[in-house]
Amino acid sequence: MPDQHTPIVRLAPAKLNLTLAVVGRRRDGFHDLHSVMVPLGLADRLSFAPAAGGRDSLHVTGGGDGAPAQDPAGFGSVLQGIHEARRVVGRGASTFPLAVRLEKRIPIAAGLAGGSSDGAAAIDGALEAWGADVDRAGRLRAAAATGSDVPFFLAGGPALVEGRGEKVTPLAGITGTPPGVLLVTPAVEASTQRAFKVFDTDPAAAPGFRGSTRLSSEHLAQELGPTYSPMDAEALASRAGVFAVSNDLAKAADLIVPGLRDLRRALTRLLGVPIGLSGSGPTLWALYPSLDGAEAAAAKVRGELALGTLDAPGTLPPFVAATTIVSPASPARRPA
Ligand code: C5P
Repeated sequence: MPDQHTPIVRLAPAKLNLTLAVVGRRRDGFHDLHSVMVPLGLADRLSFAPAAGGRDSLHVTGGGDGAPAQDPAGFGSVLQGIHEARRVVGRGASTFPLAVRLEKRIPIAAGLAGGSSDGAAAIDGALEAWGADVDRAGRLRAAAATGSDVPFFLAGGPALVEGRGEKVTPLAGITGTPPGVLLVTPAVEASTQRAFKVFDTDPAAAPGFRGSTRLSSEHLAQELGPTYSPMDAEALASRAGVFAVSNDLAKAADLIVPGLRDLRRALTRLLGVPIGLSGSGPTLWALYPSLDGAEAAAAKVRGELALGTLDAPGTLPPFVAATTIVSPASPARRPA
């Protein structure tokens, strides 16, 4: 640790799946994916300092409703990330215990990979705290061992994610103004494990046209790849209709979360733009050419919720936020 009085700080961004194709079931029970993912300005904040005791410790605040959440049971990916980082460092360097403070801003179990991003930030923060020099392959090993969505966050921008999540190909950023994103997360739990299970076993969860999501996903990955000219926010937002129907877990999420499909339809009517689902949900999204558009949409949604003219599943009101897609070519103006 270079200076014991200055904690190391990391931001852990949320992610959005613009496309999510489930391309096969693996022997290990996981699924092979083809997904274009983008990091968002909305982020958790982690700080790292040497622990006073002999073990790593975690203190969590926030969690969507602003109340302190001190029970680390649901935030295992941070301690897991530090554990995996320690393994890739080996015995050569001092990997002393760390005290981590996690400020939660990303809704939990929302399809935004907040927990996975915390895990990736924990690996990075721990390695810096220890002054450990670990190459990309080692970091990737630690990330993949922490969770399926964790390796994506090593890319630092849009990326094509394949395999179980461990194969990450960075894609070109979006040029110019960062695209705006509206997020609406109903206050209900949607387990990823359950969504995949329903996808495997319930015929009602089968995608309408098998293979079409993968084609859209491949097309987008190509468009954001090196052979195409860079895409701007306007062009990305104009493709939202394709992305909104390019999530193979959407029907499974509708089956798991009663009322999600109605909310999606109501938002489409209210905002007049395509509404997509991130990951296995329950977060719904809309894309805009800039943050301003997303902020106006968020105000509209909050207004309708307050009036009682928009219903969302869950006993608490949904989390509503306007943020941006972050990519190397378009840093976020400010986090949500
Ligand atoms: O790796 P992670 O803990 O994020 O995954 C949560 C669950 O989602 C896994 O237990 C698995 O059931 C499912 N999953 C999957 N295929 C993936 C990623 C996750 O089946 N590629």
